[in-house]
Amino acid sequence: MKIEAFSKADEEGVLRLYKEFNEDRIASGVGDAQYKYIEGEMPWSRTLTDEDCFTLVLKEKNIVLGFITVRIPQFNPFHKVGKLAEVDLIVVERKLRRKGIGSFLFNTAQANLKTLSVTHILLNVKVGNLPALNFWHRMGFKKVSDTEYNRSDGMKEKTVYMVKKV
Ligand SMILES: CC(C)(COP(=O)(O)OP(=O)(O)OC[C@H]1O[C@@H](n2cnc3c(N)ncnc32)[C@H](O)[C@@H]1OP(=O)(O)O)[C@@H](O)C(=O)NCCC(=O)NCCS
Repeated sequence: MKIEAFSKADEEGVLRLYKEFNEDRIASGVGDAQYKYIEGEMPWSRTLTDEDCFTLVLKEKNIVLGFITVRIPQFNPFHKVGKLAEVDLIVVERKLRRKGIGSFLFNTAQANLKTLSVTHILLNVKVGNLPALNFWHRMGFKKVSDTEYNRSDGMKEKTVYMVKKV
């Protein structure tokens, strides 16, 4: 297994995993993830690598088995506190979970962020997503707040915000 930067050849593999993730979300009752890079005015794959973002893919025999997308927003209102990055999404192939792939992807992304002088990583997780909450806790993230809001499609979304000092 190797981790490399996302390229156009990985589009289909990443989309396949994204769809798996979204199906699980819908089945669990929290609604469609509505990631803007799947639909909307910009082709989704461009957003995976736009100027604020990088995506890493884990592959075996050219099959994408996991990916992580991290954003480093250019506008950082907390610049006096530090340089922030945000995990947009991490997904590991369903059948291959609990084998260390997610840790490998996150640790590789974190090492990249260190070279970019990032000091804090933020993310948010849906309240019912226990595997992800446990995973991020294990990766050293701490809960900082939670919130509930009504989405435009009528779904209520309960979200936990987490942070890790790099
Ligand atoms: C979250 C996710 C990326 C974790 O990937 P993974 O490859 O299974 O993670 P790892 O094998 O590296 O797990 C590392 C540790 O995280 C914790 N963890 C991971 N999955 C867990 C689960 N289902 N239940 C409890 N703890 C879990 C464990 O402590 C685990 O260590 P252990 O297996 O030695 O006990 C994966 O479950 C996934 O793709 N989920 C669907 C997409 C998703 O929800 N993404 C997060 C959006 S915020």
